[in-house]
Amino acid sequence: MCGIIGVLSKDSVSERIFDGLSRLEYRGYDSAGIATIHDNSIHKRRSEGKLQSLKSILEKDPIQGYTGIGHTRWATHGSPTYHNAHPHTTDRVAVVHNGIIENYQTLKDNLIQNGVVFSSETDTEVVVHLIDQELRNGKTPELAVQKTLSQLEGAFALAIVFSQDPKILIGARRGSPLVVGIDENNLFLGSDAWALAPWTQKICYLEEDDVVVMKNDDVNFSYTIFSGEGKIVSRPLKNLNLATGAASKGVYSHFMLKEIFEQPQTLSDTFLALIDEKTFETRIELPIDFTKHHSRILLVACGSSYYASLTAKYWFEKYARIPCEVELASEFRYRDPVLTENDICIFVSQSGETSDTLAALNLAKAKNCSTLAIVNVPESSMARAADYCILTLAGPEIGVASTKAFTAQLAVLCVLGLKIAEQRACLDKQNLFEYFKELLHLPKLVTHVLQDVSVFDALGQRLSMASDILFIGRGTNYPVALEGALKLKEISYIHAEAYAAGELKHGPIALVDKTIPLIAISPNDNWFEKTSSNIQEVASRGAPIIMLTNDLEFTLDCRDFCKILLPKTGSLNNCFIYTVAMQCIAYYTALHKGTDVDQPRNLAKSVTVE
Ligand code: M6R
Repeated sequence: MCGIIGVLSKDSVSERIFDGLSRLEYRGYDSAGIATIHDNSIHKRRSEGKLQSLKSILEKDPIQGYTGIGHTRWATHGSPTYHNAHPHTTDRVAVVHNGIIENYQTLKDNLIQNGVVFSSETDTEVVVHLIDQELRNGKTPELAVQKTLSQLEGAFALAIVFSQDPKILIGARRGSPLVVGIDENNLFLGSDAWALAPWTQKICYLEEDDVVVMKNDDVNFSYTIFSGEGKIVSRPLKNLNLATGAASKGVYSHFMLKEIFEQPQTLSDTFLALIDEKTFETRIELPIDFTKHHSRILLVACGSSYYASLTAKYWFEKYARIPCEVELASEFRYRDPVLTENDICIFVSQSGETSDTLAALNLAKAKNCSTLAIVNVPESSMARAADYCILTLAGPEIGVASTKAFTAQLAVLCVLGLKIAEQRACLDKQNLFEYFKELLHLPKLVTHVLQDVSVFDALGQRLSMASDILFIGRGTNYPVALEGALKLKEISYIHAEAYAAGELKHGPIALVDKTIPLIAISPNDNWFEKTSSNIQEVASRGAPIIMLTNDLEFTLDCRDFCKILLPKTGSLNNCFIYTVAMQCIAYYTALHKGTDVDQPRNLAKSVTVE
């Protein structure tokens, strides 16, 4: 995961590198570091923990130099300590790395046999010593890097600087993304275009196995891209139009809370891009023919995006009557799935960079399936790789726990399902009109839920004492229960499990006792009676019950029963409403526990390693 930055400039670079890292911290925040070249030597500052600690170090002990690299780390090989923090260096070379060198142990053993002494437990350090050895043997920086890359297995985006060649910056990628940014007086490398956006929007994306050599010859800045075969290649230059404003929390104490409260707006933006508010018809032109005989949909994703996809299965099958399977990308990509040209594979991802989902997309393309990406980040790897792309308009999501991006995914998937139903003639115009009207009313309902969050605050205080919590739901609220449990685990570190309500008695009910609260999502819908019975079964075994419902009448004769009333909605809208409630419960529970809500331990916003 990790974020990397490189800058070759006519001016001092360390502040800019730090600024770029602040836009990449979503990729990891276990440690951070910067190295620059000044007076033909490498200057480096590193720190454990978040970027803020590196800032204090740089303030006390600044570094100069017109060429430099930076890194924000999500630890893979080696614990998140100072010594494992990047950049890794010798006297001659400094390297930052995003990815995993899979054959690092063999390479390390060989290097140790040749007398090399390692100072970290990272896989990255082998890259540094391999390049160093080639430089000692008289190779140029370009050749030293090329020779080294040919020995590496695994995934990497690398930025490399050299003490004896202070006006050269080299980048290389395989498996992990790397972007080149260009302006007259600077050249940049970054893990994504957003990191570079305030400096330049003229960028080019490196392709698999590309190496870029950037040079400053005192008059001009130039860069040359080499393909994996060592041939000079050109990659398309793009002029982007990305927002550059620094995201701020505004009046909110956390980004997560701000993002929860942005949902009436983000849902409205997403729906209005897809549905005409006057005619209640969709604006999407379906680029794929979903009516073909034998066609089936595969939804592939990870984490919360997987739960959004699970919800979509209910809609796609119910409304569009099309077979639909939902796959965890990390399993799908390795289990040799049966795929045919009739399959339509939809990849759902906030970041558009998740390594497993991207690999699954490439697999589907290789099997000639139609591919559609639903992503929140324009110009992300998935947006560029898929045949077609629909954007969720949630805006940048900073909190590691997904909130507004998740509901925006639900919004796109729901409209898409209805549009497919229209193409397949499964719903008539009047049905569609009613459903789209219902969806356009959703932002108002979400505003209503968020008007008074004191009930979630009070509940959060109570739940923060629990060590285990169970969630149940049925239909589209089963994935919402899964998402609610994930949210709670991620930010409060409380163990939580979610079950389809009907499944509870097939094993998990053995867990029930009076110390484990049950959170039941139970709107008054077709399953209400059934879920009510499941709630009774748990209550009679002494567990505290928290029921989220829109049913005014339901009561439970038990010692510890809390009913949270949510607005009455149509059948499409209710899973959105219950999701927002789940987000608030997780947020306030974490707040009362005192955990780091926006940057929970061990996590990163974008998972770009397997
Ligand atoms: O960027 P993606 O949607 O592909 O990310 C997938 C998961 O890593 C992500 O949803 C993760 O589970 C979130 N932290 C959930 O809050």
